[in-house]
Amino acid sequence: MSSDPGTPLHFPVKMRPEILALPAYKQGLAAPTGFKLSSNENPFDPLPGVLDAVDAATRQLHRYPNAAAPEITARLAAEWGVENDEVIVAAGSVALLVQFALASAGHGDEVVYSWRSFEVYPWMTVLPGATAVPVANTPDHRHDLVAMAAAITDRTRLVIVNSPNNPTSTVVTKTEFETFMAAVPSDLLVILDEAYAEFVTDADAVNGRELVGRYPNLVILRTFSKAYGLAGLRIGYGIGPAPILGAARTTITPLSLTDHAQVAAIASLDRSEELHERVANIAARRETVWQALVAMGCDVPRPHGNFVWFPTGDHTTEALEVFRSHDITARAYLPDGVRLTIGEEESVENVLAAAEKIARLIG
Ligand SMILES: Cc1ncc(COP(=O)(O)O)c(C=O)c1O
Repeated sequence: MSSDPGTPLHFPVKMRPEILALPAYKQGLAAPTGFKLSSNENPFDPLPGVLDAVDAATRQLHRYPNAAAPEITARLAAEWGVENDEVIVAAGSVALLVQFALASAGHGDEVVYSWRSFEVYPWMTVLPGATAVPVANTPDHRHDLVAMAAAITDRTRLVIVNSPNNPTSTVVTKTEFETFMAAVPSDLLVILDEAYAEFVTDADAVNGRELVGRYPNLVILRTFSKAYGLAGLRIGYGIGPAPILGAARTTITPLSLTDHAQVAAIASLDRSEELHERVANIAARRETVWQALVAMGCDVPRPHGNFVWFPTGDHTTEALEVFRSHDITARAYLPDGVRLTIGEEESVENVLAAAEKIARLIG
């Protein structure tokens, strides 16, 4: 019997066909050698204090974690100037995205997002049986918020805005976002996914921090995986109206958020000065790389996250190979392009050498 999930007729037990047809989530490739620039990770070690905090938590491994996450919740509430019940914490913002999808959209409902964007959006839409409504990015690789607003129907239950957008690294402006929110019904949930917010230096870009308390239907998602460098521990959070977060709390996988992740997040927040230095360092490296790419004729949109988008189109597989031949593992998004993380300082020379070849390849 075939074990190919693409042939549900021959599947050994009765299961949901839309789930069997769904490709499993694929992460950025591991790098056998050289630089791993395929997962938008942080090249720095964990911030000072994090390893000690995690070590102490490890001594309690025989206990379940505190699922209510009171300390990190209170800390985030204080940082954002909100009440504790306006904060939701989970094992990564991916977990939160799934929780909000389960809480908001059922069979026959629609989820609107920009495309190309984070590959989790189509996947998380299928889990509750909802229908994806992807709206094409603009030719300059940005969200088309006017088209997204126009794509909303009476079946829409969730709209996701991603800024900076993964993988194109473009941002939505404050004005665009405000105009969009004015066009969206106030009883429709909007998630602003800001996984890379800390890397943004453009003052015109939307910033969830300035939107807190302004909309009854807006949830802002942030993560400790990127700027804070805790990707391996899995912790992200949302800020939004208490009733919406309350609904999402009921769809959590119980006890999935570890104490290790909670204490590591608190220890990281205690080191905000070092964090800002590291983020500034990566943002400056991104700027240097982008300017060099533009100077060599690469058609690369201005990046705002810790990554750069090469719209290599039909040349995507070749471009990936060029990076590989320069000891760099990047991430291909067939048939559109290649995403490359801004990583270690030592990787920059290889990145630029590869990019020069890619620029020639594309012509
Ligand atoms: C746009 C976006 N949102 C959310 C996430 C998920 O982050 P986390 O590690 O918190 O699950 C990512 C990770 O790549 C991302 O790119």
